Amino acid sequence: MKEAYIVTSLRTPGCRRKKGALAQTRPEDLVKTVLNALIEQTPGVEKKDVEDILLGCAFPEAEQGLNIGRVMAQMCGFPDETCGATVNRFCSSGLEAIALQAMRIKSGWCDVAIGGGIESMSIVPMGGNMPRPHPEWAKENPDVYISMGITAENVANRYSISREMQDEFAYHSQMKASNAKKNKLYKEIVPTPASKYIEKNGEWVNETFIQDFDDGIRETTTAEGLAKLRPAFAATGSVTAGNSSQTTDGAAVSLVMSEEAVKKFGVKPIAKIKYYTVAGCKADEMGVGPAYAIPKLLKMAGMKVEDINIFEVNEAFASQAIYCLQQLGMYDKRELWESTSDKRIVNVNGGAIALGHPLGCTGAKLCAQIMNEMQERGAKYGVESMCIGGGMGAAALFELCD
Ligand SMILES: CC(C)(COP(=O)(O)OP(=O)(O)OC[C@H]1O[C@@H](n2cnc3c(N)ncnc32)[C@H](O)[C@@H]1OP(=O)(O)O)[C@@H](O)C(=O)NCCC(=O)NCCS
Repeated sequence: MKEAYIVTSLRTPGCRRKKGALAQTRPEDLVKTVLNALIEQTPGVEKKDVEDILLGCAFPEAEQGLNIGRVMAQMCGFPDETCGATVNRFCSSGLEAIALQAMRIKSGWCDVAIGGGIESMSIVPMGGNMPRPHPEWAKENPDVYISMGITAENVANRYSISREMQDEFAYHSQMKASNAKKNKLYKEIVPTPASKYIEKNGEWVNETFIQDFDDGIRETTTAEGLAKLRPAFAATGSVTAGNSSQTTDGAAVSLVMSEEAVKKFGVKPIAKIKYYTVAGCKADEMGVGPAYAIPKLLKMAGMKVEDINIFEVNEAFASQAIYCLQQLGMYDKRELWESTSDKRIVNVNGGAIALGHPLGCTGAKLCAQIMNEMQERGAKYGVESMCIGGGMGAAALFELCD
């Protein structure tokens, strides 16, 4: 099989649903910013060279519907020959889009393509505008439709992940992110034009501005503050707003190329996409997905957990992230994920608890993050993984280019 290369990988900041900087900016405008930046930041490659744009989206409707992939190709001035499609595998949609482009390149069907993701959780609510579960089937089989927060409670209860463990994990996520923000480590962020209606002298005016940081990070987080929060999903539960991923708006894209295209356009790729896989699990504990997907991925690659230099494991909830790290033998080795450790290799600059989880964008967002982190640290092998609503996990293996 041929190689597929990630050449450029970028994201908008992740901003808080309804309360954040991107809440009133249409999803198409977020994608436009990163797609245009992707081409601008890849000298030698023009829009006409891109064959196809696949965009992941978990609720592809309303402003982010109507086949957003093709809409964006046209809106950004790609020629008519550049195609576009929308991909949905819920929380891994953005990674799925990148992996599908990689698979087409590996099979020799394509040379230059873009994969990415978009989710405006402010504009299209989680669950969509009109959820319609099958009425008879759902009576006997509600699990595939249940709240993600309840699946996180199930993981906590079944596998004894205490509130203290979840809050501690959340604290470290916030501290890693605070450090990264302070030291300007998120080099993959594209400063993003945004607009907001604000009241000025008794009148509503539309103000435009540039947003260049993730606005969900809480630098002031403390263990005591986290401990005070009430359960968000179950009266006697342990999952709170502080140890859950935040609901977020964002977009991210990656340019994927064949070896022939890399040579033809004279670009320097960041990494190869070696493998991608998905693994199924019980829907009512969907968060355990990475505990199945990562070992399956590593088996395909003939590698072990110890061979991987850096991990991005999506923090949908602290309970499920902790469980997955336990299963991978990394939770007890606290130096691998704690914010104070120089040896940390898991979510090194914080995870979705601090940075947010814009559903269909997340896979592409984490790809942009891990591409940046692999380059910064000279990390040879990187694994990106996430759990997926409905009961799945996805995982991809990247190898840094010399
Ligand atoms: C848990 C959830 C319902 C909370 O929603 P929310 O109330 O809008 O959450 P917020 O981030 O605004 O936090 C609410 C309050 O909790 C408190 N809080 C949150 N994080 C905190 C922290 N780290 N330290 C102290 N207080 C904190 C604050 O008081 C905050 O209010 P403020 O913004 O006015 O300061 C929501 O984040 C959620 O649904 N998350 C999961 C999303 C999901 O299921 N994704 C799919 C996964 S598969």
